[in-house]
Amino acid sequence: MDIASRPSQPEDTQVADAAPPPQTPAVIRREDYQPPAWLVPEIALDFALGLDATRVVAKLSVQRNPAGNGTSTLRLNGDQIVPVAVAVDGEAVNDWRLDGDDLLVELSGDAHEITVETALNPAANSQLMGLYASNGMLCTQCEAEGFRRITFFPDRPDVLSTYSVRMSGDKATFPILLANGNCTASGEGEDGMHWAEWHDPWPKPSYLFALVAGDLIANHTTFQTMGGRTVDLNVWVRPGDEGRTDHALESLVNSLKWDEETFGREYDLDLFNIVAVSDFNMGAMENKGLNVFNTRYVLADPDTATDGDYDAVEGVIGHEYFHNWSGNRVTCRDWFQLSLKEGFTVLRDQLFSADMGSEAVKRIEDVRILRSAQFPEDSGPLAHPIRPDSYQEISNFYTATVYNKGAEVIRMMRTMAGAERFRKGTDLYFERHDGEAATCEDFVKAIEDGAGLDLTQFRLWYSQAGTPQVRVEQVQNGTETVLTLTQAVPATPGQPEKQPMPIPLRVALFDRATGTHSGEQLIVLTKAEDSFAFAGFKTAPVVSINRGYSAPVAIEMDRDPADLVFLAAHDDDSFARYEAMQSLVVRHLVAAVDGALSDEAREAGQQAIGQAFAAVLADEALDDLMRGELMILPSVAYLAEQILVSDPSAIHAEREALKAWLGRTCAEALAAMHDRASAVPYSREAAARGARKVKTQALVYLAAGQPQQTAARAMAQYRAADNMTDRQGALMVLAGLDAPEREEALADFYARYADNALVVDKWFSLQAGSLHPRVLDHVRELAKHPAFTMGNPNRVRALYMALAVNPGAFHDASGEGYRTIGDLIRRLDPVNPQTAARFVPALGRWRRIEPVRAALMREELEKIVAQAGLSRDVFEQASKSLG
Ligand code: TRP
Ligand code: ZN
Repeated sequence: MDIASRPSQPEDTQVADAAPPPQTPAVIRREDYQPPAWLVPEIALDFALGLDATRVVAKLSVQRNPAGNGTSTLRLNGDQIVPVAVAVDGEAVNDWRLDGDDLLVELSGDAHEITVETALNPAANSQLMGLYASNGMLCTQCEAEGFRRITFFPDRPDVLSTYSVRMSGDKATFPILLANGNCTASGEGEDGMHWAEWHDPWPKPSYLFALVAGDLIANHTTFQTMGGRTVDLNVWVRPGDEGRTDHALESLVNSLKWDEETFGREYDLDLFNIVAVSDFNMGAMENKGLNVFNTRYVLADPDTATDGDYDAVEGVIGHEYFHNWSGNRVTCRDWFQLSLKEGFTVLRDQLFSADMGSEAVKRIEDVRILRSAQFPEDSGPLAHPIRPDSYQEISNFYTATVYNKGAEVIRMMRTMAGAERFRKGTDLYFERHDGEAATCEDFVKAIEDGAGLDLTQFRLWYSQAGTPQVRVEQVQNGTETVLTLTQAVPATPGQPEKQPMPIPLRVALFDRATGTHSGEQLIVLTKAEDSFAFAGFKTAPVVSINRGYSAPVAIEMDRDPADLVFLAAHDDDSFARYEAMQSLVVRHLVAAVDGALSDEAREAGQQAIGQAFAAVLADEALDDLMRGELMILPSVAYLAEQILVSDPSAIHAEREALKAWLGRTCAEALAAMHDRASAVPYSREAAARGARKVKTQALVYLAAGQPQQTAARAMAQYRAADNMTDRQGALMVLAGLDAPEREEALADFYARYADNALVVDKWFSLQAGSLHPRVLDHVRELAKHPAFTMGNPNRVRALYMALAVNPGAFHDASGEGYRTIGDLIRRLDPVNPQTAARFVPALGRWRRIEPVRAALMREELEKIVAQAGLSRDVFEQASKSLG
């Protein structure tokens, strides 16, 4: 539903009528943590379900916490709900008060039963937090603080309760009724009603509560756990989508098996349900025994999902399943500990995907995400440690820093301990903290004790923000090679001074003559400066450092491009090979953007890159999946990180010029590769996936070098495609070309997939993310397309996130890209503040952008903070970005 046609939105009208004076939201601080005053060992919830009217009766058994502050006031959090009725020990009471949105009740004893009734309108809940309607079904999203939009409760992760849920509703509207745990009873009522009761034996915090009711159909299988338990596995989707659920179900089975084999973790209920919903703020949610997923991470078949989509489904299914131990059995004490579950679970899903496919390719993909999404966070106004010290709105801290850098930090512990000892550490962690709400410190201590590491200094990785910069100097003293390493952690907001951190670096020194090394070593740089000597080299070796990306740092080393060409061709660590290739390009493009390149230097730089690129195309020992990775140039976002204050359009232009040069210079080899790969028939096997990857990569370079000829080749790929990977790849290239084939293919694609929301998202996204010079005009038109709606986050992201990360268009000199995103944020905020806030960091990069554009970006941020009734989410991001 479009926002314009949404009937009544009480929140909006309130905001518009009585714009309150701008008020700075309260700052929540990690150091202020206090244990809860009251515990809730048990809760019973009774839902009378309706799409636009749902009644909730919550019965809480509350107990004074001996470790609490002894207050007799019970504070139950609420958010935009009002109590219809309140009772204490079965007696209706009137002496409750509201403090802001919270409900306060005075209690005389140490244990009571509190009953609260609330009335909700799920259909009017456009924020998609709490109980909401999506596509005619009801579902919940409670992390981080959505449960308080359903009923009054101490909505914090260190209050664990056993949940019993009863729900009743119209059987025709809601034939399937699901909640956490096991279904204990169900039956028919009068007037076409039915009901179900669910019980979850595992105590859990409120953020893991879930309920789903609707017309759903399951793809089902069973799984035998290592302890002999038979688990029913279901993937629930809307009727008609069941043909696209096999990959999700298979990924789920693989996840259960992998966690047993790799981490010794067994599933702990007889039932595991996954439900796909179309309207969802994030990727998916790990609610106990009832994961709720964005449809985009469930549905996949060859005709509608790319190979990348298949991988994403597998990764997210794994991620949410792995939370059953890292997140649910051991949960977080408070939201500052978010990386305890997210960093660890991302590492677990990365290792899982690596085991399911290519370890080398997976590592490169993960580093690419870190560099293009997390590095900019670390160097910008919103920089925060993986364990933040304060927040205004916790939803803003579900970041690449907490997730991806958090995973890197744990990966470093694993690298230092080795996989086997690391496993002893995680075993100890699960054993010690099972059933508890733990802290990052608990995790580090368990790894320290279990793996036998001293992590005293390592803890700085949890408290210091910023990407460490490591300089490497190589000196040859006779037959000894000395590496002198220096580290500096840049200042970040609130952290002007930093201490040196332990940085584990995997190193190998290559003999130039033989192209080999005599074994890899792990060195750990713990000081601001240190030297490491390696004996036995008659001539200076070629240094391969931070192999496998063993530490999430930036390495600086002045080196001969010939050494990088050497490593790109010879390194036996695939990541290092990729890295050498990237460095070669980064150095060249940074110099080019700087205007520092003479014609000869430009020529020499291009030749070195061309030589390495041609070697990648020709190397028969490489598999195509890896070849495809090696062909990808560093992103503009990552390139911009290398420059203090940059002109992103200039970076983009130089990067495109290099692509065009490579496309022309290697045209023959690229065309041959495209022909060869086009002959490989579709299958999900690695070789066929690799062929598809290099096929579209070849097209990308050819299109840059020879746009007119390539339009025909791309159209041929589009027409011949029997799968979405080829079709989308061809359409992506065509969308960037000014050729008649462009319109033809776009129209064909839309007509073919008009009734498939996820594929229509691709159609929006390819156009908003294209290399076409008139992208901004296209976006303006697409925003008026009947299929565009502000009510669906996937659709909003498809159009506008694609634009925000499209450097050519977003940074257009006119400022139109900034205005488009600024405008979007202001219009989306009243509808869905959480999703609106995700767009702010794009504008928040202004300090690192040349002054004319920077002023235009600031202007948008200022208009945003001036908007009356702004959400806490957007206010925090925009005000911090203005600084
Ligand atoms: N815990 C979820 C995950 O990482 C993240 C998540 C899903 C989320 N939905 C959310 C976080 C809504 C905040 C708000 O798997
Ligand atoms: Zn997660």
